[in-house]
Amino acid sequence: MAGSYFLTTAIDYVNSAPHLGHAYEKVLADFFARHEKSIDRDVLFLTGVDEHGQKVQQSALAKGVEPQTFADEMSAHFQRLHHGLGVASSHFVRTTAETHKAIVRDWLQRLHDKGEIFFQEHEGFYSVRQEQFVTEKDKVDGAWPEIFGEVIETKEPNYYFRLEPYRQRLLKHIEENPEWIVPAFRRKELLGALAEPLADLCISRPKSRLAWGIPLPFDENYVTYVWFDALVNYFSFASVKGQLVWPPDLQIIGKDILIPAHGVYWPIMLFALELELPRHLLVHGFWTNSGAKISKSNAKSLIDPVPYVEKFGPDALRYFVLREMVLGQDADFSDERFETRYNGDLGKKLGNLVQRTISMVHSYRAGVVPNYDGFHLTEVDAALRSDVVAEQYKRAVAEFAPHLALQAIWEFVAQANLYVEETAPFKLAKDPTQAKRLDVILGLLVETLRRLSVLIQAALPFTAEKIRVQLQLSPGPVRLDESLFGTSLRGHAIGKPEPLFPRLEEKPPAS
Ligand code: ME8
Ligand code: MG
Repeated sequence: MAGSYFLTTAIDYVNSAPHLGHAYEKVLADFFARHEKSIDRDVLFLTGVDEHGQKVQQSALAKGVEPQTFADEMSAHFQRLHHGLGVASSHFVRTTAETHKAIVRDWLQRLHDKGEIFFQEHEGFYSVRQEQFVTEKDKVDGAWPEIFGEVIETKEPNYYFRLEPYRQRLLKHIEENPEWIVPAFRRKELLGALAEPLADLCISRPKSRLAWGIPLPFDENYVTYVWFDALVNYFSFASVKGQLVWPPDLQIIGKDILIPAHGVYWPIMLFALELELPRHLLVHGFWTNSGAKISKSNAKSLIDPVPYVEKFGPDALRYFVLREMVLGQDADFSDERFETRYNGDLGKKLGNLVQRTISMVHSYRAGVVPNYDGFHLTEVDAALRSDVVAEQYKRAVAEFAPHLALQAIWEFVAQANLYVEETAPFKLAKDPTQAKRLDVILGLLVETLRRLSVLIQAALPFTAEKIRVQLQLSPGPVRLDESLFGTSLRGHAIGKPEPLFPRLEEKPPAS
């Protein structure tokens, strides 16, 4: 094994059903997890749900069920989505797990003992929607911005965690580790947020106001609140066979939870507990729907990924989100864009290449890969056989750019389709003097499909498997480095072609 690789995603609130943004983040993480496995790493991949908090309590109340019942149902919904999308995590995190609650309480106790957590009366403004205290500094043009919803004045004693003592150390860490935050422009935003002294973080809520949480070990009248529960999940489940795996290599989050949650609170919690910081925080942008922000508080713009998975298959959605979003930037979803990618890149390009190659081997060579060993390489043959695509792919993944990785693969698919057109096997098949040349072309094309089944396996695992089944190859996943060219396929009998991405005439589901 080439070492271990530990990656995490944000854990989603279960106060409403998952949308495209949630699906994207999990697919993105699954892509990296599968890639790391394919280069022989022992992968620990955590994803899951964030089950406590006021909004869950309220949603449960509105449905007339216990919060735990509500959380169970919603968690199952998220889990089904992951399963349907092929998101193969090592563990599905739930913050209601007893092991997690025990670790949260342990962390709180240790920080309390060290004097990092203290009790204080607080008078101030509170955003009901964001469930956080806000200050005059948060006002925009003298008013509370819309994202805060209703802002009320409260007076409530609570527990606080000191942040300011660690600010300089955090700044130093960011300076010394330019790749800690990806992409780089997010790092500048975080540096900006750390330019001024940090206020203490309120970590508790009185039980009377919020019952659905983890009680503080040193004061059972309070529960801990949002971040001191949710962030700890990364540690609670960071073990394999009882052995702690730390720190994470990669933590994937959306842009709304970098500042302050993952960029300030999280590293400072780790500093205070003398734990190493994650190696990379990868910050993705937001999906919009025909220009409108996709969020659970905006029912009109919501995109439910499930109908797309059901109608087009998991890989169609996986391909779309990974190919269409430039990692870090926002991207727009529309049925038109989705259909264009599905019919074009998937159907006409990849699907067609697989179908025509397999069909030709059946038509001209009775379904058996001819002998193409030791053949003379023409210039186009050599170009098709080059490993440039694999190099481009690996470089793009290392740079956290799945869209470029897929772009490189699809350029290769286009090259292979062009190869078919230029070498015209359907013409050669009519000319007996060209039999040897046809053998070589068909052999190279089947080999190309085998390479593609390896190159696409992190992004399109289901399609990779289908190609391998049609070629009657051993099932994947396959090790990326060794298997791209593999042994000769000469004499290998392949299966029948099945359309990978059938053309669908009706419109995608209305959103
Ligand atoms: O923030 N496009 O949960 P959450 C892309 N429980 N990503 C999006 C998105 C969109 N339109 N909308 C949301 C929470 N996300 C906390 C996290 S982590 C210890 C606790 C992303 O359900 C969002 O950026 O509101 C976040 O990374 C994830 O979905 C969960 O969001
Ligand atoms: Mg959110």
